[in-house]
Amino acid sequence: MIPPEILTYCITHSTAPSDLVKELGEYTVKHVSGSNMLIGEMEAAVLGFLIKLGGVKRVLELGTFTGYSALAMAEQLPPEGSITTVDINPHTTKIAREFWDRSPHGKKITQVLKPGADALGELTGPFDLIFIDADKNGYPLYLEWALANLSARGLIVTDNTLWSGKILTPGGDKQTDSIIAHNTRARTLDGYTKVLLPVRDGMYLITKS
Ligand SMILES: C[S@@+](CC[C@H](N)C(=O)[O-])C[C@H]1O[C@@H](n2cnc3c(N)ncnc32)[C@H](O)[C@@H]1O
Repeated sequence: MIPPEILTYCITHSTAPSDLVKELGEYTVKHVSGSNMLIGEMEAAVLGFLIKLGGVKRVLELGTFTGYSALAMAEQLPPEGSITTVDINPHTTKIAREFWDRSPHGKKITQVLKPGADALGELTGPFDLIFIDADKNGYPLYLEWALANLSARGLIVTDNTLWSGKILTPGGDKQTDSIIAHNTRARTLDGYTKVLLPVRDGMYLITKS
């Protein structure tokens, strides 16, 4: 949504992920289909900033893919911090674990290889940060679960909430309508502070405090 040279300027003036995270991003672009799903360095910097700002220790991520966002977040967590990350794809999950095993922060990450809805039935909060980035049809359910399982000063971050602008046109397809339902629910929540940032494909931030 912003010119590439301005985005590069922003990235170079933000805290960078490790060389290993960058290598994982490059590997994914080269070898894995769907690499446009990666959050990228700008969004990783925002998540890292939020982790530091909020004193986040316990993270839940829905949507692991090749483990880029999980590793970038793990690098910003304190030594006792932890991330549980959920995905259904055994192939990309295996790549994720191979890269995490090369990082001193990899031990903070626990993988759950299950559909998000099943995994959530077995997980218990509270989580300090819940990053929603899995199947778009699941967004309304994931948001409800996140609201019920957030710590007192916790934060929900939902990715792709602009969906390349398709959120302006309801009734197009199920994924778009699910994201719109998520966004409407977030907008109308009482007692929460929210901001939908036009970062990458839209980062919706929701906090109880
Ligand atoms: C946008 S990608 C996640 C990207 C990742 N957060 C990153 O930036 O490195 C979405 C992931 O959701 C996973 N996914 C799709 N349907 C799912 C489901 N029902 N439950 C859990 N994960 C699912 C896909 O396999 C894919 O890896």
